[in-house]
Amino acid sequence: MHETVNRCEEILAEWLRQAFQAAFGEVQDWSGIRVQPATDARFGDFQCNDAMQAAKTLRRPPRAVAEAVLAALPLPPMLTRAEVAGPGFINLTVAPEWLAEQVAVLSAAPRFGIPDAGQGRTVVIDYSSPNVAKPKHIGHIRSTVIGNALDRLHRALGYRVIADNHLGDWGTQFGLLIQGYRTFLTEAEREALTIEALERVYVQSYNRSKEDPAWLESCKSELVKLQQGDAENRAIWERFIAISRREFDRVYGRLDVAFDLTRGESYYNDMLPETIQVLQDKGLAVESEGALVVNLEDEGMPVCIVRKSDGGFNYAATDIATVRSRVAEFDPDRIIYVTDERQQLHFRQFFAVCAKLGYTTHLEPVWFGLMRLPEGTFSTRQGNVIKLESLLDEAERRALEIIKASNSEMPEDEQRELAAAIGIGAIKYTDLSHDPQTMIVFTWEKALALEGNSGPYLQYAYARVCSLLDKYAEQVPDRDPLTNALLLDEPVEKALALQLMRFPATVLRAAEVCKPSVLADYLFSLSQTYSSFYQRSPVLKADAAVRDSRIRLCAMVAPVLAEGLGLLGICTPRRI
Ligand code: ARG
Repeated sequence: MHETVNRCEEILAEWLRQAFQAAFGEVQDWSGIRVQPATDARFGDFQCNDAMQAAKTLRRPPRAVAEAVLAALPLPPMLTRAEVAGPGFINLTVAPEWLAEQVAVLSAAPRFGIPDAGQGRTVVIDYSSPNVAKPKHIGHIRSTVIGNALDRLHRALGYRVIADNHLGDWGTQFGLLIQGYRTFLTEAEREALTIEALERVYVQSYNRSKEDPAWLESCKSELVKLQQGDAENRAIWERFIAISRREFDRVYGRLDVAFDLTRGESYYNDMLPETIQVLQDKGLAVESEGALVVNLEDEGMPVCIVRKSDGGFNYAATDIATVRSRVAEFDPDRIIYVTDERQQLHFRQFFAVCAKLGYTTHLEPVWFGLMRLPEGTFSTRQGNVIKLESLLDEAERRALEIIKASNSEMPEDEQRELAAAIGIGAIKYTDLSHDPQTMIVFTWEKALALEGNSGPYLQYAYARVCSLLDKYAEQVPDRDPLTNALLLDEPVEKALALQLMRFPATVLRAAEVCKPSVLADYLFSLSQTYSSFYQRSPVLKADAAVRDSRIRLCAMVAPVLAEGLGLLGICTPRRI
């Protein structure tokens, strides 16, 4: 384990292991003894539940085991109380001085103790990955926001992250688009091609393909021409990509999202025949009704089609080729795919094919539920699409209104900058505070609420701590609050210190389970504890020693909030 991860729990568990050993000797290996935060602060700060298990081996009542353990060694100075409760829990209350020392170790560690868990190992994160020239609605934001948080979390933990935006730039939609582009647009529109025109063309062409077989055929033949390298279609395709990417980049800029690679599906096109050949050579892919498929009966799944009956390669073939290419180039430990829930079968299928090919890289789907507005879902073919960029505009507009009302004296450009930080933060936080595997009903009231579990609430909490720190700096100039002595005599001070101690383990856990919501929950509860600390314990008006100690706690809450929100991709303005 790392120095800073669950430091208190580790030290206490080590003492308990010795106590078990002293009480019962070598009858059992005690290295599995664990300590965890107390489920109820009234009974202590930490607890150990292992006496119950040990009682079975020792054939003694669990309470008697727990009591014998505590009787075996004198109470160490780090504890003020150790008690047996209920069926055999061991409850531990730590000494404020000892806790203060542990907090000091943490606050001196770089990035508040975030451990180097990755140790340079590589993770590829495939996220955002929108389809070119198809309209994007608010449901598409989740892959980008969740993926980017996972990206930041893994980097902070010392992984080498390859963030790859796997654009959908090579699908059947290009037949529809090219043919539609030629037919539905005027010359002037073609010349000054916009993303809106392109999206309109897609919808129109798609609808026509549903009722007009001849149209569908003509689109297909344009696609084949493109795939065979026809110069004119290729040039049109390149324009579509360029226009789409310009739009994506604008949104990524506003969301502060950056990729190491933007390799669309087209990048792997030349590798497809070889990939299929390998599958055939290994006897994995077989002909079935003209198509080439990999049988996944043993895995309990339908066959994975890797080449369609018309000879075209498909999405699965591309994804298998992509794994081969990523493994060869980056040798990753894990490849994480952040994609909506509707594609789960596709992922499970091609993961199974990769396993059959002998790939041991851990392939991990992080699927997420849709985000929608209360009035219903979005469909590109119904009129109620809320475009992604309008959502961002609306967020900033609403945030600006709130800022203007409360900060009328702030210069206009500062107000706008703040509005962007708060508006975009509110959208990201709404997304990230939910477990990815749930559906989100997005409402402005909740997203922009100043009270409750929202982005603005956390940003305000941070700004409030900063302003307190600033006032302290005026009162006590030239002193770094982090050098102040820490007294943790009040329960709420202790609670805050204990919560600060949990930061490194929380960051680690959020990355391990690929749930940024684990970190969001932590930050919210830290802000709540801070706010009850702040309400109950006057800081600047307290006696000097208490004041200095309390401001020191504040001086730790601030960087943890900033670091934590930063890992979620949310900015923390110092002044709001
Ligand atoms: N382009 C796909 C979509 O918009 C997502 C791609 C996910 N990544 C992958 N390697 N298949 O639904």
